[in-house]
Order: sequence, then C-alpha cells, then structure tokens
Amino acid sequence: SRVVLAYSGGLDTSIILKWLQTTYGCEVVTFTADLGQGEELEPARQKALLLGIKPENIFIEDLRDEFVRDYVFPMFRANAQYEGLYLLGTSIARPLIAKKQIEIARRVGADAVCHGATGKGNDQVRFELSYYALEPDIQVIAPWREWDLTSRTALLDFAEKNQIPIAKDKRGEAPFSVDANLLHVSSEGKVLEDPAEEVPDYVFSRTVSPEQAPDRATVIEIGFERGDPVSIDGEALGPAALLAKLNELGRENGIGRLDLVENRFVGMKSRGMYETPGGTILYFAHRGIEQLTLDRGAAHLKDELMPRYAEMIYNGFWFSPERELLQGLIDRSQEFVTGTVRMKLYKGSASIIGRSSPHSLYDQDLVTFEEGAVAYDHRDAAGFIKLNALRLRTLAKRNRRGA
Ligand code: ARG
Ligand code: SIN
Repeated sequence: SRVVLAYSGGLDTSIILKWLQTTYGCEVVTFTADLGQGEELEPARQKALLLGIKPENIFIEDLRDEFVRDYVFPMFRANAQYEGLYLLGTSIARPLIAKKQIEIARRVGADAVCHGATGKGNDQVRFELSYYALEPDIQVIAPWREWDLTSRTALLDFAEKNQIPIAKDKRGEAPFSVDANLLHVSSEGKVLEDPAEEVPDYVFSRTVSPEQAPDRATVIEIGFERGDPVSIDGEALGPAALLAKLNELGRENGIGRLDLVENRFVGMKSRGMYETPGGTILYFAHRGIEQLTLDRGAAHLKDELMPRYAEMIYNGFWFSPERELLQGLIDRSQEFVTGTVRMKLYKGSASIIGRSSPHSLYDQDLVTFEEGAVAYDHRDAAGFIKLNALRLRTLAKRNRRGA
C-alpha cells in the first residue's frame, strides 16, 4: 500500500518517513509545500531521495499564491480573529496542505495519508477533519499518537539506526516549536510555557522590536477590490507578492507581535508568540475600507458572526457546510468594498489615517454640522428619540413607584 506524507525535509518528518517504511512497510510518497515558510524546497527532495523515495514519488509544490488568494484573503474578508486577537496563521494553512495530500493520494493511488502533528494539539484535528471531509474513506496515520519514540533519545537513536542525517544543531532539543508560512510564524512550547515569563528576544524572527523600529513613520496606501487587497502605493501585486511586501513593511516597523494564552480545541490552554506583520496591517486596512463602504446592518451582522467563523477555522472545520455558508455571506458583503486606505506604520502600530472609495456611503452633506442637508430634518430626531425613550420612561416610572 501507499501513503502520502506531509514532508518538510526536517528531522522529525524524516524519522516519520523511515518509520512508515519500516513499521508499516508501505511505499512512501512525499509532499512538500512552499507556503512561504522561507525555506528552500530542493534540500527536501535531496533528503527524500537519500532516504530511498523514488523520484516519481516526490511531490513539491509552490502554493504561495493559492494559499493567499483562496485561504488567507477569504478569511481576512471576515476580519477573523480567534479569541479576539489571533489572526489564525497556522489554522488557515492546514486545510490547504490536507487538500493537496488528498489530491496526490488520488493521483498515485494511495490509500493513506500521514502528518507530523502531535496528539495534544489543534493541528492533528485540522489535518484529519480536512482529509475526511474530502476523502471519507482515507486511512490516516498519525505517528506521534502511535509510536513509542516518546523521548528525544529514542528519536535520535532511531535516526542513527536508520542513517538519517542529523544536523548538528538538531542534536539538542529545540528550545521551542515553530510553524511558519507567508501569513505568520508561531512559536510555542518549552521556554514559552510559563505564561508569566516574558518571551525572550531570540524567539522573534519576523519583526524588529517596536523599540528598535525607525523613529520616522512609514505611510503606505493599500488598494482594495471587493474586499481583497490588490495594490500597494499604486503598484498592482499578486496575492503572495502583496502579502510578502506587507510583511517587509511590518517587519521594519515592529508590527504584529502577539503574546497569547489561547484555548485549544482539544481542551487545554496554551501560550504562544505570534508574528503576523503583514496580516496585522491588512486586518486594520480592511476594516478601514469597510468603514466607508459597508452599511451598518451588514457590518454589525458580519461582526457578530465573525467569532463563529474564526472558531470554525481554528477548530479545523474549513471544509464544512457551516463555514461555506458563512463564507457566502461574507463574500456577498464585499461587493462594494473597493477603494484605498492610507496607513501609518510606526513603532509597532498600524493606524488608518485616510480612506476613500468610489462606493462610499459616507455623505459629508448628511453628517456635517453645517446647515443644508435635505435628507435629514433635525425635527425628525425629536420624535425618533421620544419613541425610543418610551419604554425607558415607562420603566423608570414603575421603578420609582416600586421603591
Ligand atoms: N496555537 C496555534 C494554532 O493552533 C499555532 C499552532 C502551531 N503549530 C505547530 N505545529 N507548531 O493555530
Ligand atoms: C502540535 O501539536 O503538533 C502543534 C500544536 C498544535 O497543533 O496546537
């Protein structure tokens, strides 16, 4: 039988690769994706070859544009944040990786897929819910829940016995666990486990500290079309290039660090450090263009539904009818979310300083304190307030009688 392994080329997934060959005795097909994690992919091919994978069983794909266009941007249309703060950088990448694994499994006639997530986290849930939603009878192998390589020594012994090369810096235990893609980098575990202790400087890889950011602000203009960013300072950019550019601007200005204690779907709390420089700028800019272009009723409904939508993504239900239904509503709301937002980036903050849209609902004539608007008669406000006050007055009278 054949299994498609989500393979990074690192030590852990290389051990999984060998373990699949030796324990399951199955033919391993590797899948390595470029999601903008900032690592070369060719070394993963060389390593797979070295570990005995046939060239035709090695799949490497650049998914950066697909990731940003079909996953990140749709999610940002919703202004999604889990537990009020987390921009879901890891959560949103899992369904895409799972989808590609299933596609490859079909192509090569594999009956199983395998991932390297542990048995304690969210990622196992996200991978596997996605697999089953797309291929209901697929077999799932989750080595971390199955094998007896439960200590670092056992893992290294296994690697040595199976001639898996171990980089010098991989002999010691990593000081924390990292997951990276174009949207963010997350760091969890080990030195980060005590939520009372400040995250040490060496953890950060995508942002300078706000204190070290330039003393002069950077001003940029982001163009939106139907809720998605399409240009920076007038230059049209594809999805991945645009997010990469925002990441650069965010990095220099110390934007997008988040120290969070969150509730995992599997039940425990965990503490993590996230760096989402470009995503943080995009989040505020998108709110800026929505301020002008969304009707109040639509905007408030969308904001009420957002926590539900974010939770669906966090919990791994990207491929579910409820997420797709909400996506339909969110996408529909973006019809007129077109225009430009001017942002000031300065020492860790991304502030909206101006916005404009050909579809703006903002009516200066209506809002101005100067006399003149015909659509609004001041005298109407008196009746509006009186009727709204009716129940409050009735209550107040009853309460006075009761006292
Ligand atoms: N806690 C975050 C989440 O659940 C990040 C998980 C990081 N995953 C990892 N394999 N290091 O989305
Ligand atoms: C893991 O358990 O593999 C990482 C953490 C998580 O998925 O929440």
